[in-house]
Amino acid sequence: METTLLQPDLIRETNADFLPLEGTDYVEFYVGNAKQAAHYYKTAFGFQSLAYAGPETGVKDKASYVIRQNKLTFVLTTPVKANNEIADHIYKHGDGVKVIALKVDDATSAWEETTKRGAKSYITPKTLRDDSGEIVMSGIHIYGDTVHVFIERKNYNGVFMPCYREWKSDYNPAETGLLYVDHCVGNVGWNQMNPWVKFYEEVMGFRNILTFDDKDISTEYSALMSKVMSNGNGFVKFPINEPAEGKKKSQVEEYLEFYDGEGVQHVAIATNNIIETVTELQKRGVEFLKIPASYYAEVLDRVGHIDEDLKPLSELGILIDRDDEGYLLQIFSKPVEDRPTLFFEIIQRKGAKSFGKGNFKALFEAIEREQAERGNL
Ligand code: FE2
Repeated sequence: METTLLQPDLIRETNADFLPLEGTDYVEFYVGNAKQAAHYYKTAFGFQSLAYAGPETGVKDKASYVIRQNKLTFVLTTPVKANNEIADHIYKHGDGVKVIALKVDDATSAWEETTKRGAKSYITPKTLRDDSGEIVMSGIHIYGDTVHVFIERKNYNGVFMPCYREWKSDYNPAETGLLYVDHCVGNVGWNQMNPWVKFYEEVMGFRNILTFDDKDISTEYSALMSKVMSNGNGFVKFPINEPAEGKKKSQVEEYLEFYDGEGVQHVAIATNNIIETVTELQKRGVEFLKIPASYYAEVLDRVGHIDEDLKPLSELGILIDRDDEGYLLQIFSKPVEDRPTLFFEIIQRKGAKSFGKGNFKALFEAIEREQAERGNL
C-alpha cells in the first residue's frame, strides 16, 4: 500500500512556478436547459443570481446564467440551436462540466507556458472589453472534452465578464454556506491516470501530493486508483481517478460508459459548518448517499475525538476521516442528472489536508448499492 502526503508549500520553494494560479475562477457546465438548471442551483444549493449572457445581450448561439455563492461561481450554458459544439457536447455527455476556469495574473503567459510544454490550445489569448475594463482569456484542452480556461481579470471591475449583463432576480433563496471549490476530480480511462498525472506535472507544473492504489480504494466488488495533483500554492487540486480491476464494474467504469468518455466526476465544495449546510441542502431536496449505521458505531475508534456531536452527523450521513494534521467531514451527493455521472461533495476541513481515504470503503459500498439498483454492477 503506497500512500504519501507531501506539502505543496514546501514544493514551491524548490521550483519556480511557471503557472501561478490564484484559484478556481468558475466552473462552467453545459446543460440541456440552463434556465431550469439555474433555478435548481439557486433553489437547492442557495446560489445567487449574478450575470446573464444570451440573445438579449448580443450572444446569438447560446444562453449562459452565472450564479455565485461566496467564492464559488458556476456558469450554466445551453445552446439555443442545434448543430454546434455545445449541443453536440450535451448529446454525447449529457449535462456535465465543460470548463474548469482558473484565475491567473497573466492569461497570455499561462497559455504560452502550457502550450509550449505540450498542451493543446482551446482558446488562443484574446482580450474582451466593455465599459468596465478588459478580461484576457485563453484555454487548453485536458481529459475528454473538458478544458481549462485561464482568466485574467485584474483590469476588470464589471459584474462578471464582457458580453454579460447583471442578472437581477426577484427570486433569491438564502445561501447555504457553500464557500469555494476545494477540489475537482477527473475520471479517466484504463491506464490513463499516469499520463494525466504527467500532463499536470509537466504542462501545468503541478505535483502529485497523494496517491491511492487499488488496495486503498477497493471493496469486494470494485476498485479504483487515484492520484491527487496540486499546484504550487495548493489552491487548485485535481485528483485523477482511473478504474481498477474488481469482480464487477467499478463506479469509474460506470461513469465512463454513461458520460461516453473521460470527464469531471465530482466538484468538492468547502463549507465552514457542514452540519448546517447539509441540513439546509437536504431540506431543499439535495439527495446524498446513505451511509450504514454500522459506520457510526466504529468511526470514533478510528478518528478519535471530534468537536461535533456524532448524532447529527449520523442522521445526515456525514463521513469523518483524520490524517496527521487534523480531521475532515465530508458527504457525497447522488448524481445530479439522470446519467450516473457528475455529483458534488461537501467538505469541511478541520486541519486535515487529505481526501477521506478512511471513508472510501464505506462510501463505495454505498455507491455500489446505488449502482446495483441501476443494474450496472
Ligand atoms: Fe473528493
